[in-house]
Amino acid sequence: MTDKFKSNINKKIIIAVPKGRILKELDPILRKVKIIPESSFNTNNSRKLMFNTSEKDIMLIMVRSFDVANFVAFGGAHLGIVGLDVIKEFSFDEIYAPVNLRIGKCRMSLAEPIKLAAKDNPKSWSHVRVATKYPKITKSYFAERGVQAECLKLNGALEIAPVLGLTKRIVDLVSTGNTLKENGLCEVEKIMDISSYLIVNRNISKARPEKINKIINRFRKATNVKSS
Ligand code: PRP
Repeated sequence: MTDKFKSNINKKIIIAVPKGRILKELDPILRKVKIIPESSFNTNNSRKLMFNTSEKDIMLIMVRSFDVANFVAFGGAHLGIVGLDVIKEFSFDEIYAPVNLRIGKCRMSLAEPIKLAAKDNPKSWSHVRVATKYPKITKSYFAERGVQAECLKLNGALEIAPVLGLTKRIVDLVSTGNTLKENGLCEVEKIMDISSYLIVNRNISKARPEKINKIINRFRKATNVKSS
């Protein structure tokens, strides 16, 4: 990477966006806020990770959703777009979430095999063992009602954990419910509703308050939110 490239990057505002299905819903919002990414942003076969936009001092980077929080918290990006699941699981002090973009709507739920659910009573649990990407949220949710949650941290394909005997239950995101259904599971308990937010690094936004606030306000307007 050349010094010229690095110094150009340092002058830009960087927004981290998550790979995956959210991009379809994000596209019209980016158009409304007039931060229109270069065309390769929307092509699945591109291996590019950094994208110029119609605004010359704003760049987008595309990373895994859990890493959006890392990039923003550690100052690699000024702003990011990510689900409430990731915000709550990391709960970094450096991050605040001023705008609910109301996209990527889904829920985080506890699920188990349909056969087990037929005779199960969640109210009787004092201990529960689950596979999840969200050990922190899971533990604190169950701790609040006096249930000790033991978590096996997995990074994906959680729905096959019960089939293969890793854990009887899982905590994961549910959108259409198809993944649960196709793997013989059903929702037993909703933990929280999820949508995606614009997140901001507090310290960087203090260093460039005008520019960052303008961007936040554009996202607010685009999603018709008066205050956070
Ligand atoms: C999420 C989630 C479930 C699935 C639920 O995974 O972890 O597996 O979506 O969606 P559904 O209710 O519409 O079937 P995603 O596809 O985002 O991939 P991931 O496992 O890599 O997180």
